[in-house]
Amino acid sequence: MLTVVARRQALPKAARFISAWAAVPQGPPDPILGITEAFKADKDPKKINLGVGAYRDDNGKPYVLPSVQKAEDILAAAKGDKEYLPITGLADFTGAAAKLAYGADSAALKEGRIAVTQSISGTGALRIGGAFLAKHYPHSKTIYLPVPSWGNHTPIFRDSGLEVKGYRYFDKKTVGLDFEGLVEDLKNAPEKSIVLLHACAHNPTGVDPTPEQWKKISDVIQEKGLFPFFDMAYQGFASGNTSRDAFAVRYFVEQGHQVVLAQSFAKNMGLYAERVGAFSIVTSSPEEKARVDSQLKIVIRPMYSNPPIHGARVAGTILNDAQLYTQWEGEVKGMADRIIGMRDTLYNKLTNDYKTPGEWGHIKSQIGMFSFTGLRPEQTKALAEKAHIYMTHDGRISMAGLNAHNLDYFAESVSAVVKGNL
Ligand SMILES: Cc1ncc(COP(=O)(O)O)c(C=O)c1O
Repeated sequence: MLTVVARRQALPKAARFISAWAAVPQGPPDPILGITEAFKADKDPKKINLGVGAYRDDNGKPYVLPSVQKAEDILAAAKGDKEYLPITGLADFTGAAAKLAYGADSAALKEGRIAVTQSISGTGALRIGGAFLAKHYPHSKTIYLPVPSWGNHTPIFRDSGLEVKGYRYFDKKTVGLDFEGLVEDLKNAPEKSIVLLHACAHNPTGVDPTPEQWKKISDVIQEKGLFPFFDMAYQGFASGNTSRDAFAVRYFVEQGHQVVLAQSFAKNMGLYAERVGAFSIVTSSPEEKARVDSQLKIVIRPMYSNPPIHGARVAGTILNDAQLYTQWEGEVKGMADRIIGMRDTLYNKLTNDYKTPGEWGHIKSQIGMFSFTGLRPEQTKALAEKAHIYMTHDGRISMAGLNAHNLDYFAESVSAVVKGNL
């Protein structure tokens, strides 16, 4: 019998080569981007993709906001250079982003107590936040996420060095908020733990606390000394009004919470691929802010050195120009209103036209880009295989993928699958 070494030596040189990556296991496909792949491969003209959370116009096409186009024209004419940005990004943009989130009359902002950095969209903001808290938050290394939450939250915070746990959020029976469960779980969390809160338009459920419930959540968080980490990826998308959607963040800051906040301009400006976001930290004084700023730079520098310039210039141009800002607010409202309109029509079709068994009121009451339909995994599978309709297996649909042309077919197919007729 030849030894392994002797056998290897007996082989031609090329066959002796063993790749450094020979033992790397095949990873699972991304649950959401995998749906887009399946959708692309489907050749049926009736196919519908309700998986990805990107806005579509009433013809099912991606939408470049006219305010963004104008800002791009202004920037093209200005012929700006492509020099490196500072580590924390474009100050004109970050200042305006903070104003948008915290409000122009925010005391914390006026007092110079909010440290802000540009980020690689919302994901990057969450990642900076996770890393900053893992390194500098002295009281806990555990973050509590709502159950369910956006699928990327767990790996983002785990990879940042935090331990991830959950608190009850969604009640499957009522297809609404499990408010009592949420309060109970926060009360039972160890003191000073970090709690992630979706500021508005909760993904994936489309279920938000009411202002009264937010106030109670603020009280519980204060009583337990918990630390609120807001993720605001959909400001403007929930109600069509950016100030109304910032209610929770602003209320918490008014109540004296030292919040941290991840912002994204992917959805509300349609700047998905430009990766424009911001991460901010409310501190207790300008002197403390300066120290926090210095440490933010130390966290960011080895990650990506400094952020990309173009998207931040686009967003900054819109936010700092009164006329463009007003136009943009109208466009955000237009997107939110189209989605709200789709919710009403879908509800009517499911209940009145197709007499679909079950209670569908949640389609109308849910908020933002997504709806948690309550469809079961086997039903979503049947919809993909037999009706060419793609959504996540938990029954989440992106309302923005529905339009006047495909809504009837969608409602008819959902009705058929619920009746067991598909
Ligand atoms: C809840 C939530 N947070 C953050 C993000 C981050 O998005 P992006 O990195 O594209 O800004 C998303 C995107 O879908 C989201 O749904």
